[in-house]
Amino acid sequence: MTQDELKTLVGQAALQYVVAGEIVGVGTGSTVNKFIDALAAIKDRIPGAVSSSNASTERLRALGIAVFDANEVGDIPVYIDGADEIDGRGFMIKGGGAALTREKIVAAQSGRFVCIADESKQVQVLGRFPVPVEVVPMASARLVRQFAEMGGAAAVRRMPDGRPLVTDNGQHILDVSGLAISDPPGFEREVNQWPGVVTVGVFARQKAAVCLLATAAGVKTLAF
Ligand code: 5RP
Repeated sequence: MTQDELKTLVGQAALQYVVAGEIVGVGTGSTVNKFIDALAAIKDRIPGAVSSSNASTERLRALGIAVFDANEVGDIPVYIDGADEIDGRGFMIKGGGAALTREKIVAAQSGRFVCIADESKQVQVLGRFPVPVEVVPMASARLVRQFAEMGGAAAVRRMPDGRPLVTDNGQHILDVSGLAISDPPGFEREVNQWPGVVTVGVFARQKAAVCLLATAAGVKTLAF
């Protein structure tokens, strides 16, 4: 099976976690796009979604799925999103699609995080994928030095034309490579406190409750 087919498989499998009559939290990325496409088939069973990015909002609305502001709704039972890496405890690296801040906000508002991923995302220790960190632009250079002190090489994420990528929140992203994150809760706590950090792309507090992992043999369900 191709990676695209594996993503379609978990996107469809995630439908079983959508609670009828309830708003669903929707993440961002190519795997989530498959989930959104599948969700269109059962859109009449839910009032709509809370979305984690402008890109997902556009896709949801194009398929006729209502999108609510997070402030308009209360607790959301289930949040469905992809990941760049997931370890054996349900801790994740996220933000490859630059949507980590809103993803963490919607995840925090949701009861259960259902991660959808293909098996290439499964790791023993987080950090092979550079950790995305959303930052206030004026703090970038200092934060690059702070990451260097902990052994990480941070670089501002750029567009193909060389300009820094600007997030949906008007901020920049640092991608930090060279870290082996053996203590994701400790790492998240520490980096969260650095002035200028908006969101760190280690999801330890908002970890996955369940991961639907697409493998050549079918969808595996991991519960944490
Ligand atoms: C976006 C994310 C995505 O969930 C993550 O990058 C995985 O994306 P994909 O499903 O395209 O591999 O965190 O900010």
